Amino acid sequence: MLEKELISALELRSSLRLFDETDALRVFYGPGESSDAIGSQIAIDIFSDQAWITQWAPIPDKVLKSLVALLQQKLPERCRGIVLMDRSEVASEADSVPLDGEVREGKFVVKEFGIPYLVQMKNTKHPGLFLDHAPLRRWLTRTQKDKRVLNLFSYTGALSVAAGAGGASSVTTLDLSKPTIEWAKENWDQASLIRSKGDFIFGDVFDWLPRLKKKGLEYDTILCDPPSFSRTKTGAFSTGKDLARLHGLILPLLAKNGVLVTSINSENIPERAFLSEVENAARQTGTRLQWLGRVDLPESFPTPLDPKQRYLKGFYLRSV
Ligand SMILES: C[S@@+](CC[C@H](N)C(=O)[O-])C[C@H]1O[C@@H](n2cnc3c(N)ncnc32)[C@H](O)[C@@H]1O
Repeated sequence: MLEKELISALELRSSLRLFDETDALRVFYGPGESSDAIGSQIAIDIFSDQAWITQWAPIPDKVLKSLVALLQQKLPERCRGIVLMDRSEVASEADSVPLDGEVREGKFVVKEFGIPYLVQMKNTKHPGLFLDHAPLRRWLTRTQKDKRVLNLFSYTGALSVAAGAGGASSVTTLDLSKPTIEWAKENWDQASLIRSKGDFIFGDVFDWLPRLKKKGLEYDTILCDPPSFSRTKTGAFSTGKDLARLHGLILPLLAKNGVLVTSINSENIPERAFLSEVENAARQTGTRLQWLGRVDLPESFPTPLDPKQRYLKGFYLRSV
């Protein structure tokens, strides 16, 4: 069953010519592409010549071995090294583990829409590039000429690199994790972007948004992509209860005609509820917003028709 589903998934990517523009791609998305109890708990991502398998429930050894053999047979050039990331335990601190072949050491470059990003297979919980945000990166590379950009919850700064490559006049990148801010700087430099156009802040969004406002700063594009939960020095954040508070701090920094791109990765929050929270913040801050479009999963994440399964949701909103 899994073999047939994987072949069908590869055929889909090939018919849509998805590898033509990137060498970082999800080639199998179990929740949408498998009807099998095991298969639906697996995703397979390709980064250049490496494969990153994610499991959301333990895969029996026998199935894992046949999956590895199948990948090596079907995508030999793209599966020289294969790692497994176990996400079956929510609070697990474990990194990815090498499964087979020559797994690359340290960071290496993948190219998406012609832009280089640093990823890593070993000693990490995540490769460093969120493949579900590829459409947003593409939008940024096309639209950010001369824009002042603020990237909140930046992680490794991939969205900042896309905005910088798109010609942004300045990009401020902010994250609460020191190693990821360092990774974001490396990403910026290796993409040959001008250092003086990039500002990197290691800090808490809730602490920094009022500080940026006090400095009189404003931005043409603000990117907001928080985790579902986080703990900060001053308290905890969750998309379940803090979206209005967060957007209430963001909107005063958005320039007239500026665009807020706000997204969440929370299956349990319906799109309508998310939008209501943003509307509340707009009302409280006296901001008038125009709807420009949706942030959504790309074609490489096929899902069943039930909208609840499209966990990534968000909006492009313009201040008028
Ligand atoms: C979902 S990731 C963002 C992914 C990123 N937008 C991308 O496309 O690569 C969430 C990030 O938010 C950061 N974070 C969590 N709480 C934060 C806070 N209060 N202030 C700043 N960053 C925070 C985490 O360290 C993590 O890197």
